[in-house]
Amino acid sequence: MTVMLHHHRSEPEVHVPYYHSLGRVPQKRHTVHRRPDGGLYSEQLVGHEGFTGTSALLYHVHPPTTVKSVRRLRDMALEADTDETLKHRKWFTSRLTGGGSPTLDRVPLLFNSDIAMYYVAPDEIDAHFYRNAQADEVVYVAKGQGTLETQFGDLPYRAGDYVVIHRGIMHRWKLDNAAGPTNLLVHESRSHVRPPKRYRNEFGQLIEGAPYSERDFGVPRELKTYDELGDFRILVKQYDALQEYILDHHPFDVVGWDGCFYPWTFNIHDFEPIVGRVHQPPPVHQTFQGDGFVICSFCPRPYDFDPNAIPAPYNHSNVDSDEVIFYASEDFMSRKGIEFGAITHHPDGIPHGPHPGRAEASIGQKETKEVAVMMDSFRPLKVAKQLAPIEDPTYHTSWIEAQHAMVSFCIGWCGHQTPSCRRACSTCPISDAATPHSSGSSCRSDILAGRSGNASVCL
Ligand SMILES: [Fe+2]
Repeated sequence: MTVMLHHHRSEPEVHVPYYHSLGRVPQKRHTVHRRPDGGLYSEQLVGHEGFTGTSALLYHVHPPTTVKSVRRLRDMALEADTDETLKHRKWFTSRLTGGGSPTLDRVPLLFNSDIAMYYVAPDEIDAHFYRNAQADEVVYVAKGQGTLETQFGDLPYRAGDYVVIHRGIMHRWKLDNAAGPTNLLVHESRSHVRPPKRYRNEFGQLIEGAPYSERDFGVPRELKTYDELGDFRILVKQYDALQEYILDHHPFDVVGWDGCFYPWTFNIHDFEPIVGRVHQPPPVHQTFQGDGFVICSFCPRPYDFDPNAIPAPYNHSNVDSDEVIFYASEDFMSRKGIEFGAITHHPDGIPHGPHPGRAEASIGQKETKEVAVMMDSFRPLKVAKQLAPIEDPTYHTSWIEAQHAMVSFCIGWCGHQTPSCRRACSTCPISDAATPHSSGSSCRSDILAGRSGNASVCL
C-alpha cells in the first residue's frame, strides 16, 4: 500500500493502511533500541524496491539473518494445457479434491508473466512459515475465516476479504476450521499491487468518489512477540521454486515496527458499487491495480434505473485483455448454469456476452445479489494443465439458443423463474415436466441423471 500521507490517528478503530505502527520503536530510526538484557534489537528494513519504495522498519529480538541451513525443495514452475484452441472455457473448482496446506497445495488456474491465479480449499494449518519473494499476493477468501499470523502482528480475515500480502511478508494462515471450510482464490502478481491510481490524489489519499476509503481496510492490530530458540522452518517461493530455510529462532520476534508496508485486508462487501441509469462498464468495479492486470469486484447492487435499461452487459470483445471471473455466489446476471466456485475464461480475440434470454430477463429487474471476482490481464493467459479434469467441455457453445430451452425448463421448475424461463417451460418437450423440483441442486442432479435428456448444458 503506497498511501504516503503523514498522519496522526486519534481514532484507533479507523483502518488505514498507510503509516502504521505497532509495538515499541525508537524515537529516531537507526538509533539505539535496547533489549531488557542490554543488547540491541535488530533493525530490518522491508518493503518494495530496495530503499526507495513503500517500506517498514522492524525491530527483532534476534537478527533475521541467523540461518542454519538452506536447500531448494522443489520446482514450482507452471505448466500450460496443451490445448491452445481459442475458445471460451469454464471450470468447476468444486470438483477439485481439496484439503491440504493453504500454501503448498494450491492448484494453478491461469497465468502469464504478470499474474498467476491459484485455487486452494485447505484444511490444514501449516507447521512452517511462508514467504513469497517473487510476487505480491492478493488472496480472495471465498469461504472461511481465521487469522493471518505475520511478523507485523495478527491480521484477522473473514469471508469476502481480499488479503493483500506484499512480497517478502512472512506469514502463516491460521484457519478457523471450526467455523467452516476455507476456499481461497490466490492472485500472484509480479508487480506491486495497489489501489487504482485514479482513485487517489497526488498525495496518495483515496479521493471522494472512490468506491472505498482507508477506513475500509483491515490492518494488523495485535503484535505478538515470540522469543524462542530452536529450529524454525521457513519456506520461501523464489526462482519459481520452493526454498527451505531453517532459522535458529522463531521468526515472529518483532517487538515493534512502523511504516507503510504491511499486510492488509479489504472486504468485497465494503466496495461501494457505482450504478447508473444505464449499464456501467466493468472499470467501475475495479478494486486493485497491478502491472498488466486489474482485479474487479462484482457486488450486490441496485440495477440500472432507466425503465428501458438492459442491466445485463452487452456483447463485447476483450480487446487487449483476457477476462477471468470467479463466481463467489450462485447468481450472475449474464450467465446461466453458474455454481459457487465456477471460473470462466473469455480470452482476447473473440467476443462474449450474455447467455440467451439473460438480456431480456434482466429488463426491469431491480437488483442483483451476485458476488464475483474478475481478473482482467492485458496479455494473454495460459491455462494450467491441472484444470483439464474439471473443465466443462461444452461451455464455448453454450450461447446457442436451442440448448437453453432445456436449461430454462429446469430452472423454471426450481422456482428460479424468469420471463424467459417461463416461455421456455411452456414449450418444453420434456415429458416428465409435471414433476416440480424443490431446489436448484436437485434440478441439476436430475439433469445429471439424464432425466432431462441433456446433461451437459445445465452445467
Ligand atoms: Fe466480459
